[in-house]
Amino acid sequence: MMAVFPALFGLLMATMVTGDPSFTITPTEAVRRVGGELFVECKVAYQINSCRIKVGYQSYILSPSEQNQADDIVYHGGGLEKGECGAHIRRIKEEWNGNITCTLPPRTGNVEISRSMRLVVARPPGAIRLESTQQPAFNEGDKFMAQCIVPDGRPAAKITWFLDENPVFEGIHQPIITGETNDLQTISQNISRILVADDNAKTLICRAEHEALDQPREAKRQILVQYPPQRLEQGTITIFGLKLGAEGRLNVTIRANPAPDVEWTFGDQKIVASENSELSNVNALEPLHLGNGYYNITLILYRIKKEDVDRKYYLRVTNELGNEEFVVLISTMDEPAGVELDTGAIVGIVIAVLVLLIAVSLIVFAKATGRWCFAGRSHRTDIPDGADSEAPLPPHDDVKGSENPSHDHGEYISNGNTKHPEKKPDTAV
Ligand SMILES: *[C@@H]1O[C@H](CO)[C@@H](O)[C@H](O)[C@H]1NC(C)=O
Ligand SMILES: *[C@@H]1O[C@H](CO)[C@@H](O)[C@H](O)[C@H]1NC(C)=O
Ligand SMILES: *[C@@H]1O[C@H](CO)[C@@H](O)[C@H](O)[C@H]1NC(C)=O
Ligand SMILES: *[C@@H]1O[C@H](CO)[C@@H](O)[C@H](O)[C@H]1NC(C)=O
Repeated sequence: MMAVFPALFGLLMATMVTGDPSFTITPTEAVRRVGGELFVECKVAYQINSCRIKVGYQSYILSPSEQNQADDIVYHGGGLEKGECGAHIRRIKEEWNGNITCTLPPRTGNVEISRSMRLVVARPPGAIRLESTQQPAFNEGDKFMAQCIVPDGRPAAKITWFLDENPVFEGIHQPIITGETNDLQTISQNISRILVADDNAKTLICRAEHEALDQPREAKRQILVQYPPQRLEQGTITIFGLKLGAEGRLNVTIRANPAPDVEWTFGDQKIVASENSELSNVNALEPLHLGNGYYNITLILYRIKKEDVDRKYYLRVTNELGNEEFVVLISTMDEPAGVELDTGAIVGIVIAVLVLLIAVSLIVFAKATGRWCFAGRSHRTDIPDGADSEAPLPPHDDVKGSENPSHDHGEYISNGNTKHPEKKPDTAV
């Protein structure tokens, strides 16, 4: 009982000091550039007879009747009688960074009440830095790490990452912000990535956006990724449709970075692709760069002879990181139709099989549970007694099965497509 009084007293004091809950300030936080403007609104639920606002180190007494347009801070609001004490703050100065506080005279007693909001006067950050694993070129599968640092901004800058023009969201670490809340802040963020062939020659961009910058700032770094020659299709490559006596081209598309060297071996010949690899009967072309590390490698046979068709062509593709070997066969036949199945055809076949499976199972299901066309007769005949229209067919078959054409039809389909045990009830007729 004794403890209640101090508690009540404390509550009363708190209410008197921090004011009543109807005392609001909006906004509670704002970011503005130097020279910008801000409206701050403080409000209580009762009439007031003065309004003081502290901006920076200066305290201002604001009155609705003194609206000198030359002043940087003037009264803003619907009038003191409505309990409104706000400020229109113009030409914001650097030193106003910090709290803006409105102070109102108390309704009773002599303790003034006040509320604060935070004005962050934006200061552009310093030079953006992108620090990364230093290596002229990476290998595919290497882990790449980079750290972007945007120092001394107020508030902290925002960092976003791009690979060329595409935003990157994977491998982005939590940003770390250091510095005082109300003062300059440095933000740093890490990115890590397992490099793939497609990353080669892309530019990693760290972009910093900030309230005090008209344009985002960027730091960039190009990433080079090397990899040994890679095959695009498995197994032996067969070039179809060549003609005896005509020219034939053996094309193989591969991927490599840096550019590969090429060596063809067939029969007793071994030739490397170079500018003067043209012999009397064959020419090994230099790898043709298609872009993105893809190369076409071509061997031209000027006149295809019988023994050219019968032998194997060994292609060895080499770069600094490794090599890959291919076996190429040539054929005077057209490409077999089965080999040409593209994705569209495969999808079509899969859908057809699925449709067939669904149809079969629907029929079996319908027959088993006596639905749809299998149920037609039983419904019609069952209406008079109305008893077991959901019951399976077999009991009724015993009585009326032979009269029903749709039943015969159903059995025909069933026999045609499946050898299903569900047939049993019928055979019992
Ligand atoms: C600014 O106002 C906040 C409340 O909005 C308060 O917590 C903080 O202590 C104030 N800072 C200063 C320096 O007065
Ligand atoms: C970011 O990377 C730097 C150096 O690369 C490292 O010192 C720091 O611990 C990393 N921070 C995080 C959060 O991963
Ligand atoms: C083979 O590559 C050459 C270029 O080297 C191209 O002109 C030709 O169309 C290609 N032929 C086939 C069948 O892919
Ligand atoms: C590269 O070779 C492929 C066959 O491997 C062929 O389809 C394509 O047309 C060739 N491209 C060029 C530019 O020669």
